[in-house]
Amino acid sequence: MRLVLVGPPGAGKGTQAHFIASHLSIPRISTGDIFRYNVTNHTELGAQAKEFMDRGDLVPDEVTVAMVRDRLGEDDAKEGFLLDGFPRNVPQAETLKKMLAETDIKLTVVLELEVDEDEVVRRLSGRRTCRRCERVWHVLYDPPSREGICDDCGGDLFQRDDDMEEVIRHRIEVYKSQTEPLVAFYAEEGILAVIDAAGPVEEITSRALGALEPYTR
Ligand code: AP5
Repeated sequence: MRLVLVGPPGAGKGTQAHFIASHLSIPRISTGDIFRYNVTNHTELGAQAKEFMDRGDLVPDEVTVAMVRDRLGEDDAKEGFLLDGFPRNVPQAETLKKMLAETDIKLTVVLELEVDEDEVVRRLSGRRTCRRCERVWHVLYDPPSREGICDDCGGDLFQRDDDMEEVIRHRIEVYKSQTEPLVAFYAEEGILAVIDAAGPVEEITSRALGALEPYTR
């Protein structure tokens, strides 16, 4: 399956991507995680992305697209993938379509996670992420058993720089103006599936797997 997750910041894309990718045995490719890895490791790509990420703006398309092209060219993505955070605007979606067409492939489905703005702010302000395995936790909704430590791998948990309320509000505006038009784009392509992403994590995972089931046949 070649799957894209779309939804506002904090919709739970990263959380669900973890379970869906493992259930479908496909690699999870998160552009946000790749950028953060590069920022932490002080690479040139990280330096190009950092100022945009800190403000909550999109990293320029040419930087992002080149990175995704490289990642999709790796062996583990040949038979399928889950993209989390890409495409993020209509030009990126058009480029992705052309990129896949070069090897005669198409996206299978785009899954939109719908959730309201107040919930997004609550989720993001309590988010903690594992430095080692990138598993996402929440201090209230999904706390690890030991504060600051990932239950899955024992790695340290950290709070993202762009999870300050002011930056969160800006990211939501960027989502509305630049990313939300993708919903109409993929509806037009006939490959959009939508789920309500409010409720407990496990319930949303089963809704997501239920919505994807027709595309696995
Ligand atoms: P990115 O990392 O992609 O951030 P985002 O899209 O803003 O999404 P988030 O990671 O904030 O949220 P999420 O939906 O994954 O939610 P999560 O599962 O963590 O991008 C960061 C930046 O990188 C961008 O601003 C941009 O600068 C740059 N970038 C990335 N891709 C780009 C691109 N294609 N083009 C240009 N620039 C790009 O959940 C959030 C919290 O809620 C967690 O604590 C979780 O535990 C909790 N939670 C999840 N589900 C539930 C639930 N059901 N109930 C209660 N709590 C829940």
